[in-house]
Amino acid sequence: MTKIAIVSDHGGFELKEYLKDFFSKEGISDLGVYEPVSVDYPIVIGKACEQLLSGEFDKLIALCGTGIGASMKANRYKGIRAALCHDEFTAEMSKRHNDANVLVLGGRVLGKDLATRIVQKWLSTDFEGGRHEKRINLLDS
Ligand code: RB5
Repeated sequence: MTKIAIVSDHGGFELKEYLKDFFSKEGISDLGVYEPVSVDYPIVIGKACEQLLSGEFDKLIALCGTGIGASMKANRYKGIRAALCHDEFTAEMSKRHNDANVLVLGGRVLGKDLATRIVQKWLSTDFEGGRHEKRINLLDS
């Protein structure tokens, strides 16, 4: 079974809590933050990315206020393919073509319903492979 985790700083806390509850049947691991106190997003997001790379789980949903800082940090790690998505189409394509292993959302950007649909689309879409396999390998070259 695919192991999924979710993480946020304070800017993504409220939406993280909502998504964690909504997708609780998927068995999502909550990596924090556990209360809306100010933290440095590179630290909490970086730690979660390291856990993903060590194989503790397969997919990570990462949130900050805009999603920008979280995606900047996540994409500094070789092997991380983080996609900042604002709609269902980009969420779908981030899986089909980019095999994104981190979905990044802006907690101060997205409404709860849209964010839920984005996560549903991302979790239910598979990587197409084929010509895209070579391209994602080139990301780390
Ligand atoms: C925190 O105020 C905010 O800067 C952070 O959540 C994120 O939006 C950074 O990119």
